[in-house]
Order: sequence, then structure tokens, then C-alpha cells
Amino acid sequence: MKIRPARYLQGQINLPGDKSISHRAALFSALAEGRARIENFASSRDCASTLNCLRSLGVRVEREGATVLIEGVGKNGFSTPGKDLDCGNSGTTMRLLAGALAGQSFASVLTGDESLSLRPMRRIIDPLGAMGARIESIEGHAPLRIFGRNPLRSSHYSLPVASAQVKSCVLLAGLNADGKTVVDSPPSGKPVPASRNHTELLLASLGAGISEEFLETPDGFVHRVSIDGDSRLTAGDLQVPADISSAAFFLTAAACLEGSEIVLPNVGLNPTRAAVVEVLRGFGAGIEVLDQREVGGETVGDLRVRGGSGFVPSGKSNIISGEIIANLIDEIPVLAVFGTQIEGGLEIRGAGELRVKESDRIAATVENLRRMGAGVEEFPDGLRVVRSKLRGARVESFGDHRIAMAFAVAGLLAEGETVIDGADCAAVSFPEFFEVLAGVVRDRPEGRPA
Ligand code: S3P
Repeated sequence: MKIRPARYLQGQINLPGDKSISHRAALFSALAEGRARIENFASSRDCASTLNCLRSLGVRVEREGATVLIEGVGKNGFSTPGKDLDCGNSGTTMRLLAGALAGQSFASVLTGDESLSLRPMRRIIDPLGAMGARIESIEGHAPLRIFGRNPLRSSHYSLPVASAQVKSCVLLAGLNADGKTVVDSPPSGKPVPASRNHTELLLASLGAGISEEFLETPDGFVHRVSIDGDSRLTAGDLQVPADISSAAFFLTAAACLEGSEIVLPNVGLNPTRAAVVEVLRGFGAGIEVLDQREVGGETVGDLRVRGGSGFVPSGKSNIISGEIIANLIDEIPVLAVFGTQIEGGLEIRGAGELRVKESDRIAATVENLRRMGAGVEEFPDGLRVVRSKLRGARVESFGDHRIAMAFAVAGLLAEGETVIDGADCAAVSFPEFFEVLAGVVRDRPEGRPA
């Protein structure tokens, strides 16, 4: 994929539905009783993996464009799959489905592509094992052979990392446990969920017996979520907001290109996901939230971003670290690109989890930024980038959708042409990305030949 510098971006972008919420909407509706109509379902390849796995488990799934209809089978209604369940590139599919399958009275196998087969699965194997499921793996990696048990033993699990996937996995197992299952997140400085809370919101709206509290401990506030093993879910109509993680690429590019004006309607602004907006604004990006509202328990708003220049930190530091990291974990590659445009640059720490995403996102971001001429230093848990003039270069996606899109943004801001090898993987979360981008790019900058 070739990206040429842009002068500015202009237009309205109706982004596809949120990937995290779409996975959950499909899986939880399948585990519910009744029929669900899900509107604005994500176009992402990952979410198609979830739908295909559900079909293999005997769930009737119909799809017409962005509308998905699911006939819920109830939490014990899956049929024994006749084949391995292919999760593709999708960690969310594998980890959430493993939680739901641990409490079934049949065995199943979850497989993934090369990248997913390298990602750590002990983090779900251990808590599911403690609840009585037996899971065979290749030294903590997929394929996972799950020997379910019904009911599972209810448990009290403290998450070693602030991971929504692991939290959701254990809560889904808890739906088929013999009592109340409790999941504690690592302590944080504020009484807010340590990781995205779409699972809690959606399970509650489908009628699960789920409750949340914050415990004040000497180390901070622990977010505790409890689910009753006798919960039953009732399907209903769902509306998925536009994906803020996809929005982040356009917010960043438009904020950096003077003269830009982009409107993104109906974007999910759940406080556990919207930190990217706060960070960009904190550096002076012209982002406005219009008409903030609640849709099906999720916060939604329209975003308008106007391009500026000369970003300076409004606060004391150019360091992003600590508990905010989990709330913008998927946006860090594009924030690192943004860091090249900020006076004083940007340092990101406490983000070691990025090394076990679809690629090692710290290494991938550092490598590509270097190729584009940015001054960048790599740390085990993050990176530091200095304000730099980016030069067009040949970069790689490393098979990672967010890296491909982050470096498309870098290419728009650079001087000269950028070539992204393996950019097709953008389809994992946002198949229309390059087409949508082409539709909003205006002009080439004078004096910046492509
Ligand atoms: C996701 C949670 C995050 C995120 C991933 C999607 C989810 O992962 O990086 O893209 O849908 O629950 P972790 O929960 O492992 O941090």
C-alpha cells in the first residue's frame, strides 16, 4: 500500500461498529434465550471469526451488511462442534469463547493463525482450570483443547494484569458455575474499571445477575465484578456504536494536518475506552464531543476534529503511563506517531502488554518510526519518541492491523511516499480503512513532493 503526504483531511466518516462490543453482542446473544438483532455490527475480520465459531456451535446466525440476526440457544444450548473452532487472528474470540466453552459438557478445540498461536493463553488456562475445566495447550499457546465441565466450580480470581479479555473469560465461565464467581482487577488509583467494561454492561442489560463494586485497599481501588452461576440471559435488539479505536487514526491525522475538519458520528465513548480523546486534547488537538448520549448502556457521541499545529503538552509531562494505559492500549501505536509531532516528544511506559498483542507492537512501532527518520528509544515496557520530521519510507505491518493503520497516518504526515508492506491486515479490524482514508484526503502539500 502506498501512502502519499496529505495537505488536510475533510469529510464525514461513518465508522463501522466497535469490534470489542460486536464480539460480545454476538457471543452473549448466542448464550441468551430469544432472538437478537444487532445493528452496526463490526465489519472486522475478527468479528466474522466469532460469528463463524458460533455457527460451528450450532447457532443460527444471519448477516445482511451491518445487521446480524442471532437465534440464542441459551447458555447450555451449544451443540458439540464437528470441527475445530478457528479464531483466526482474534484474541478476543479465543479468550471469550474459551470462557463460554469451559462450562459446556463437551470437548472443543480452539485454533488460531500464526500470530494468535504465539499469544499467551496461560492467563485464561489457569483460572479456567481452577474452576474445573481441563485445557490442553502447546505450552500455554493455542491450539486449546477444552474439556468442559458443567457446572464449573465458582471461584474468586484476582487478575494479574488489567485485561478485559481475561476478566470476560472468567465471567463467562461463571455463567455456568455452581455459585457466585468473583473477578478482581489489579488495584488502581481511582474507583473506575481497570479495563474496558463492555462485558459487564452488556451482561447486565441481558439480565445476568452481575454486580460491580470498588474495594478500597492499601494499594488502591480494586474493581470487583461478581456473576451468579444461575444467571439467565434474554436476547434483545442491540445497537453497536462506531469503533473509537478505528476513529483514533482519523482523529490523529486530522488533528495534525492544519485545515482539516472531520466529523465522526456515533462514536463509542465509554470512559474505559475514550482516553485517547483526552490525551490528544491534552496536547492541544482540536477535538469536540457533540451530543453525548447513552445508547444501550454505552456512552456515544459525535466527534468533530479540526486540524492545528504546534502541539504542546498542557500538563506537566509528556509521559503516558500507569492505569490510563489499559484504556488506550490499542491506540498506542498511533499515539507514538502523534508523539513525533509534539513539542517535547512523547514517552509511553507501563505498556509491556503491547509486546503480546497481534505483533510485538513496541518493537514494530519503534522499527517503523526509525525507518521514517524519527528519533525513538525502545524500553521493555514502552518507548520514547522525540519530535521529528517524518520521511516517507518502506515500512511493515508485521501482520498487525493497528500497525498498518498507524503507519498510514505517519505516511500522511511525512515528506515523500510511504509504502506499507502487508497492509491488507487492516481488515482484521477495519476492512474499509484505506478506501475511507482515500475519500477524506485532500490535496498534496505544496513543497512536499510525493
Ligand atoms: C479487548 C481487550 C484488549 C484489547 C483488544 C480487545 C477486548 O485486550 O487490546 O484489542 O475486546 O476485550 P486485553 O484485554 O488483553 O488487554
